[in-house]
Amino acid sequence: ETTPRFISVDAYIKTHLHCSEKGYYDVLENINHDSLAAGAPDIACSATQAKFLMLLARACNAKNILEVGTMGGYSAAWMSTADPEVKVTTIERRPEFVELAAKNLAKAGLSSRVEILTGLALEVMPALLTEMRRKERAPFDFVFIDANKEDGLEYFTLAVEMARPRAIIIVDNVIWNGKIASADEAEKDARVKGIRKLIEGTGVNDLVDATAIQTVGEKNYDGFLFAVKN
Ligand code: DHB
Ligand code: MG
Repeated sequence: ETTPRFISVDAYIKTHLHCSEKGYYDVLENINHDSLAAGAPDIACSATQAKFLMLLARACNAKNILEVGTMGGYSAAWMSTADPEVKVTTIERRPEFVELAAKNLAKAGLSSRVEILTGLALEVMPALLTEMRRKERAPFDFVFIDANKEDGLEYFTLAVEMARPRAIIIVDNVIWNGKIASADEAEKDARVKGIRKLIEGTGVNDLVDATAIQTVGEKNYDGFLFAVKN
């Protein structure tokens, strides 16, 4: 396994590309540090993945961003730095993570850019969609889904309805150490089954065009689903 090399390459990338005076790097890395210190699992996206999301959001001039799965608020904080006008709406079902994320975002000075909604995304997303249909809420420009893997297709389908034309929708963990290529693995693991359902369902969804990018790094071998709404 080449994990030590993945880690040292991510360290090299961070040394040379995450070093600008303008960046919020220290503040953002503190969020990760404080989440781990508070006992949250080490499953937030990596700094390079989070910066990639932020730069994509910036490149498409996203102002209204949706995240499904907040945990400690690390990726939400990163995305909120894409532009001073960004608003991230992030959904988290576990009250202890909502509390942790709120504390982390306050310490980072980013609370005003991030709205944390507590509850099951399968209930909160339809409520947001209702607000959107009443013109009380704008459609999203950019969506990042990083929640439980079993319901990925349901989250994705709702996200597509909540997104403007040409919006970007990214889903984390769609490669799962390569296990997703195997139907046998899906029989053994509901998460693998959920990811395959997401990928196969997205492939036949006429409202989007999509691909998936395999990644390695300090979070091992995984990948992003990348979709653009028509
Ligand atoms: C897990 C979840 C994630 O979102 C991730 O990026 C890595 C691991 C997990 O549940 O194990
Ligand atoms: Mg993830």
